[in-house]
Amino acid sequence: MLVALVAVGSWVSHRIEQAAVQNFGITAANYVESFISPITQDLADGTELSDPAQQAMEEIFSSSALSGRIVSYKIWKKGGLIVHASDPLLAGQKFDPSDDLRAAWQGKVSASFEDLNDPEDASEASLGVPLLEVYSPIHEVFSGEIIAVAEFYERADALQIELSDAQRTTWMVVGSAFALSGLLLIGIVKAGGRTIEVQRAELKAQLAASERLAIQNDTLRKRAITANQRATAQTEQTIRRVGSDLHDGPAQHLSFAALRLDSAFEKEGAPDARKEIRTSLNKALEEIRAISRGLALPELEELDVAGLVRRAVTEREAQSGYSVDLKFEGSEPKTLSYAEKLCIYRFLQEGLSNAFRHGKVETAVVTVTGMPECVRINIEDAGEGFNVRDPIQLDAHGGQGLIGLKDRVESIGGSLTIESNIGKGTVLTLEIDTEETA
Ligand SMILES: Nc1ncnc2c1ncn2[C@@H]1O[C@H](COP(=O)(O)OP(=O)(O)OP(=O)(O)O)[C@@H](O)[C@H]1O
Ligand SMILES: [Mg+2]
Repeated sequence: MLVALVAVGSWVSHRIEQAAVQNFGITAANYVESFISPITQDLADGTELSDPAQQAMEEIFSSSALSGRIVSYKIWKKGGLIVHASDPLLAGQKFDPSDDLRAAWQGKVSASFEDLNDPEDASEASLGVPLLEVYSPIHEVFSGEIIAVAEFYERADALQIELSDAQRTTWMVVGSAFALSGLLLIGIVKAGGRTIEVQRAELKAQLAASERLAIQNDTLRKRAITANQRATAQTEQTIRRVGSDLHDGPAQHLSFAALRLDSAFEKEGAPDARKEIRTSLNKALEEIRAISRGLALPELEELDVAGLVRRAVTEREAQSGYSVDLKFEGSEPKTLSYAEKLCIYRFLQEGLSNAFRHGKVETAVVTVTGMPECVRINIEDAGEGFNVRDPIQLDAHGGQGLIGLKDRVESIGGSLTIESNIGKGTVLTLEIDTEETA
């Protein structure tokens, strides 16, 4: 703004000075020409002024009308020749024509203030008063042609005062305008700064609130997972207890009843009825044992991840008669909870049985990758594959397998991804975060 202030101020005051000087110059030129034009008409034909004309010139310039205003003068002919001047020593001398002199020969009045650098201005410069230098063309009365150029120096005290007044006013107006805009800008910037501060504070508060919420959410999520795991463990325990109760209670009673049947009813006869009773007792016993076997859950507590994977894989190999290529990568995962172990066990059972049943393959690859914070297990088959995006595929056959498995995995905070391409095969990936549970 300061640079702009200086540039604008200088430009405006320069323009004002130019205009004022030019106006003063033109007025003075008209005034002076009205006196000297009639006397200098000789110059239309020659390069010299007659003696009476010279005398008349001197008288006019020393008259009261001009002597107070005009300090000195020169009458120029073409080629830089001075034909007459207030300083008699200059008459007859030649100087290189200045730009202003040339302009005057073109018909233009040119005025300049305090510009006394030309070699012929030496005496005027030495006067030490503010001077206006004016070059004014002198026209022939009838043809209007330029016959000579009058150069004169006018005292310019009034012009100087006017110029300094104009400059002072210019600088004051420009300065005030810039000061006002500066104040306005400072106001705007300050107001903007305050708004930014307030918004920043609000954002900070909101961020802190969201961070608190995120922490709360995380804690709640971990609690939910733990609660889920506990609920699963309890359900599994109940199922296991019902299984063993069936095996140890009713089954024992029935087998004892079957044992005692023959000896108790030996004398009674009716061997057919006895046979029937024995047959249905044996059937009931078999069914109760089957139910109890189905309810029994595998003993997984003692096994680590590698052990439980090996066990699930070996069981499926034995049941199906097909083979599984088992690979271990990374580190041994941290200890897992019973719910997590059971989840891995069910994942392998379901994934491998799907691969053999639906993928129609005779071999599958299981890869276990242990990482510091999670364990990842892949089941890959190069079988028929299916369209994962088609929800009917998963539901149509009453297949609860993959959907149920996904629910089970997510309830303990893990993730299950199913990728499959028809004709190319299927990859199931289970990831369990070992840090999840709290
Ligand atoms: N490895 C696989 N290769 C090809 N198709 C598969 C594979 N796994 C699943 N599918 C397809 O996805 C469907 C759903 O599988 P899901 O395991 O949910 O049910 P299911 O196996 O049919 O029944 P369930 O598992 O209850 O015995 C299957 O019927 C089959 O069409
Ligand atoms: Mg299935």
